[in-house]
Amino acid sequence: MKRTVFLICLLLAPLAATAAGGNGQLDEVKIDLRDKQALQRGARLFVNFCLSCHSAGYMRYDRMGKDLGIPEAVLKDNFLFSAHRPGDLMKATMPHDDAKLWFGTAPPDLSLVARSRGPEWFYTYMRSFYQDEVSPSGWNNRVFPHVAMPHVLYEWQGTQQAIFHKDEHGQQHFERFELTKAGSMSPEEYDAAMHDLTNFMVYLGEPAKLHRYNIGVFVLIFMAIFTLLMYALKKEYWTDVK
Ligand code: HEC
Repeated sequence: MKRTVFLICLLLAPLAATAAGGNGQLDEVKIDLRDKQALQRGARLFVNFCLSCHSAGYMRYDRMGKDLGIPEAVLKDNFLFSAHRPGDLMKATMPHDDAKLWFGTAPPDLSLVARSRGPEWFYTYMRSFYQDEVSPSGWNNRVFPHVAMPHVLYEWQGTQQAIFHKDEHGQQHFERFELTKAGSMSPEEYDAAMHDLTNFMVYLGEPAKLHRYNIGVFVLIFMAIFTLLMYALKKEYWTDVK
């Protein structure tokens, strides 16, 4: 018995470790890939504000258009800023080497960032830029200290400063943000926009997920019919036994 308890504890140990170490300071975000409107808003935001520096090099514009239900004319007029044809890959406008020179580090491809870092991390990151005089760009980020990326959406969010407190060992701990200058959006509107962007980044990281949802529905319908059939069959067999 003791051995079993010990083994179960051993099996559960990694869970406890992630729960404790999994950066409890990330904010929750609800992902809904069936919300096409949200995905379209996120895509528009990404193309307008991120593609100048970052690529999403595994995605083609026309594939995205088809997946998200964006008509081709709208795609051509509103999404193709850094490309010529709908079949092009989503490449950054800024040449890689120039970006490296300007920022000290090249902006990475963002195709998989929501998978590698997680949606919560991405959502928190986009809302955690704060002013920092010591940093070369004038910005710092709570979940990405000394980040080389400037806060490209500060006109929407406004500018905020981070309040830290020191513990007895002299270590700095983040406490809260304080808005120093309001942006064009209210905090709720900005959070909603970042929710849409995060939703889009999750789609970008795994476009096949959209199709899996549809397949899932068919599988459930099939299971329901199959269960009914099996039940009928069972009843049929047991009438002979009795
Ligand atoms: C002016 C150029 C520029 C623009 C525009 C820009 N970024 Fe960045 N971004 C950077 C640079 C440079 C880095 C690398 C930061 C570092 O490593 O310190 C970066 C890093 C990131 C990272 C961290 C990636 C990782 O895993 O290390 C994310 C996420 C990100 N950017 C998201 C965005 C999003 C979303 C947008 C659009 C709203 C955007 N960026 C617009 C320059 C830019």
